[in-house]
Amino acid sequence: MYIELFDINRHDVHEVKEILFMATGNPTSENLDSLLFEYYSNDNHSLFICKENNIITGIIGIDCSGKPLGFIKHLAVLPENRRRGIGGHLINETAKVLGLSIIELETDQDAVEFYIACGFSSKEIKSKYPGIRRFRCVKNMIE
Ligand SMILES: CC(C)(COP(=O)(O)OP(=O)(O)OC[C@H]1O[C@@H](n2cnc3c(N)ncnc32)[C@H](O)[C@@H]1OP(=O)(O)O)[C@@H](O)C(=O)NCCC(=O)NCCS
Repeated sequence: MYIELFDINRHDVHEVKEILFMATGNPTSENLDSLLFEYYSNDNHSLFICKENNIITGIIGIDCSGKPLGFIKHLAVLPENRRRGIGGHLINETAKVLGLSIIELETDQDAVEFYIACGFSSKEIKSKYPGIRRFRCVKNMIE
């Protein structure tokens, strides 16, 4: 498996949108298009894809405006390819390529165990939505 920066001219936008859908709060087609446009046009926002046998198996979107701190905005792996190390690989490789020493993100209860397994520390934070727990996770990438 290898990672590449998303390129609107080279990658299948439909395939990328299907995976981005899984990591987006309100994934209408218009919202996904504007997220992709934001990644493509904003130099501080980077979207990487993971490819294997020419299939896109996962995506990670990072805001690097606080470099060397990177903030994960989106991360998702195709359901049939989960638990094969792709999510962890996307985080580690992207941090290397972008020269990030700290990674932060906010997530819900579904994914917090994944981040803890990847070495992040987590702290529960106030949630905007009743009944939905939110966590802020942080990892020092150069330890
Ligand atoms: C969260 C997600 C990206 C993880 O991707 P993945 O490729 O399956 O993760 P990895 O294979 O790298 O997992 C590394 C470790 O994390 C832990 N882990 C992964 N998914 C987990 C889960 N659902 N529950 C508990 N632990 C989990 C495991 O310890 C795993 O190691 P193991 O398989 O050897 O036990 C993937 O489940 C996903 O796309 N979920 C839907 C979208 C989402 O929630 N994104 C995060 C939003 S911030």
